[in-house]
Amino acid sequence: MAIRPILKMGTPSLMERSRELSTDKFGSAELMSLLQDMKETMIDARGAGLAAPQIGENVRVVIFEVRENPRYPGVLVPFTVLINPVITPLSDQLVEGWEGCLSVPGLRGAVQRYDHIHYTGFDAQGNPIDRTVQGFHARVVQHECDHLDGVLYPMRMKDMSKFGFTDILFPHLAPYDDD
Ligand code: NI
Repeated sequence: MAIRPILKMGTPSLMERSRELSTDKFGSAELMSLLQDMKETMIDARGAGLAAPQIGENVRVVIFEVRENPRYPGVLVPFTVLINPVITPLSDQLVEGWEGCLSVPGLRGAVQRYDHIHYTGFDAQGNPIDRTVQGFHARVVQHECDHLDGVLYPMRMKDMSKFGFTDILFPHLAPYDDD
């Protein structure tokens, strides 16, 4: 178990499509070790989420959690392990919101995401997860799952004037956490 280095944008493996986790890995020591490393790495980096490819494992595993945070007032997302996720938008409604990424440190950008989604997948033991969510929870899931398809949030930006350094854009919010 260890805090692992987080790969930064420009690393070729971050741009790859990650493979499905094979079902015989559910509940395995190998998976538990990966998840523990991901959790320690996310907490150490003060992130809201982390995808396995960000620590160099190109497998379809993400974790996320949003606790009370002045950046996201009123938003709480329970700690979730989501494996082999499938996202289905429930409406065409897009909302713009600021995102950061632990693989793009120090920067934030405005990204359009579906506001209302259904997502499914599996937890660490292979139990099904099935949720319908909106708003920031939906944004976090879309951001993390994009990592599994080799997509970083700047690749989704439509307006590069809304891209900049966190400490300049949000001087009153400290520390400057990333996702
Ligand atoms: Ni990210």
